[in-house]
Amino acid sequence: MVKRRTESGGLCPPPLPRLPKGGSYEILRLSKSEAECSTARDRNTNRSSNRVMRIVDRRQFFRDSAAIAASMAALRGTRHSARADDTPDDRKASANDTVRLAVIGVRGRGMEHVLGFAGLKDVRITTICDVDENVVGLASRGIALKYGAVPKYVQDLRRVFDDKDIDAVSIATPNHWHALATIWACQAGKDVYVEKPISHNVSEGRRVVEAATKYGRIVQAGTQCRSHKGIQDAIAFLRSGKLGQVYMAKGLCYKPRGSIGFKPDTAVPSGLDYNLWVGPAEIKPFNANRLHYNWHWFWNTGNGDLGNQGIHQMDLARWGLGKSGLPKTVQSSGGRFGYKDQAETPNTQSVAFEFDDCLLQFEVRGLLTNDEEKVRIGAIFYGTEGILAISSYTEWQTYLGPKLEPGPGGNGGGNHFANFIQAVKSRDAMSLNGPIEDGHISSAYCHLGNIAYRLRRKLHVDLARESFLNDAEADAMLTREYRAPFVVPSKV
Ligand SMILES: NC(=O)c1ccc[n+]([C@@H]2O[C@H](COP(=O)([O-])OP(=O)(O)OC[C@H]3O[C@@H](n4cnc5c(N)ncnc54)[C@H](O)[C@@H]3O)[C@@H](O)[C@H]2O)c1
Repeated sequence: MVKRRTESGGLCPPPLPRLPKGGSYEILRLSKSEAECSTARDRNTNRSSNRVMRIVDRRQFFRDSAAIAASMAALRGTRHSARADDTPDDRKASANDTVRLAVIGVRGRGMEHVLGFAGLKDVRITTICDVDENVVGLASRGIALKYGAVPKYVQDLRRVFDDKDIDAVSIATPNHWHALATIWACQAGKDVYVEKPISHNVSEGRRVVEAATKYGRIVQAGTQCRSHKGIQDAIAFLRSGKLGQVYMAKGLCYKPRGSIGFKPDTAVPSGLDYNLWVGPAEIKPFNANRLHYNWHWFWNTGNGDLGNQGIHQMDLARWGLGKSGLPKTVQSSGGRFGYKDQAETPNTQSVAFEFDDCLLQFEVRGLLTNDEEKVRIGAIFYGTEGILAISSYTEWQTYLGPKLEPGPGGNGGGNHFANFIQAVKSRDAMSLNGPIEDGHISSAYCHLGNIAYRLRRKLHVDLARESFLNDAEADAMLTREYRAPFVVPSKV
């Protein structure tokens, strides 16, 4: 099928998917350039005289694009001059004050990247990239609302890296793509915001750090709690010594998840480049249960909830303990309990990491459970003088003395996207709140926990080599067989 292009050379976004019955919809007027892309094959398009209108799911649209809607009034005055069809001189000027960004993977978290970056005055999202053209409509429309022109759409991320008009990329693909996409981006001279976990295995995570250093790029790990004032204050309290000697931290990921059931293998849906979606992973027959979002629950592409929700809380626990490297040992047990389904990763998992002077425990509970110190998703620090509980992405509270009476606490957010853009503009990697080295180490804790879970035994870590001591079987699980040409190089 011949793909249509906008005047500025971008691919037209694909048609919207069929609307579910019973939703609350409203008609949205399209921008001229988006209207230009509308064809008779758009199932949800009404034509009235020369005006093209498209029906969108009202609740979904306003939920997902609240930030864009709020800034629409202001944006007429602030619309930036940088356009996808800039002249070379314009591009040179715009590169100094506007970061030209591509968002890679625009379905779930990627849509939050779109909203977050579109809300920053010194960013222009010029390009969106997704291997599944069926999912790009919302991102394309939101960006069109913001800038008055649809962004360029490309299906193959390598074309993003080829594009000299792109300064930075944000990556919200599934986990198995994070490392290779980041390395390719660094090699192409792009700065990178990469979602957590920054890797799918330990070895490729270290390659990401090496690539950021070698190519002098600004690379932010997507552990956004690190930009939140409440969390920064909690860590400062731990560092102040007021909790005494912290002898244990516990990370909690108590997030009920339902069964994903069973689905049969089928033909690949039209509009999806399945070869590219699989990329570095092992290719298997197409199955809808292994595709969007549910890929988290298969080892080939995901890292279970430990490496999904849990990486945020693992990062907090490790950060709070002040451990910059790997633990001495790791052990883990658990299972997928409560129902039978197609997924592989545990919904119930406990992991224990040992250090010389403290322990880090982590628990994933994907079924019904109580909370602990009002925490379900967070981290609790146990010191000789009291307890500190981080109970959300922004809140903390202490309980001090033998009676554990409430002490200092607080709440406060921040903007991790803005922190990245400031660092891109200042070229100061030290100003990043989510340095890629920290992203790598915290991701590695999750991978170590999963390796110990899968091998069902205690593992001893070789700290200097980021591998295991005298354990070839465990060492083999620190990397993977890559599927050419999607190979993470051993030397970047
Ligand atoms: N920081 C956070 O709070 C947070 C929240 C949610 C998700 N995440 C992370 O964001 C990432 C995406 O999660 P999600 O829930 O949006 O997953 P998702 O499966 O819903 O979306 C991923 C999108 O990436 C696309 N994609 C896959 N391979 C691609 C490629 N090679 N090039 C371009 N596009 C590609 C898919 O087609 C899909 O549209 C995950 O790594 C997840 O851990 C972070």
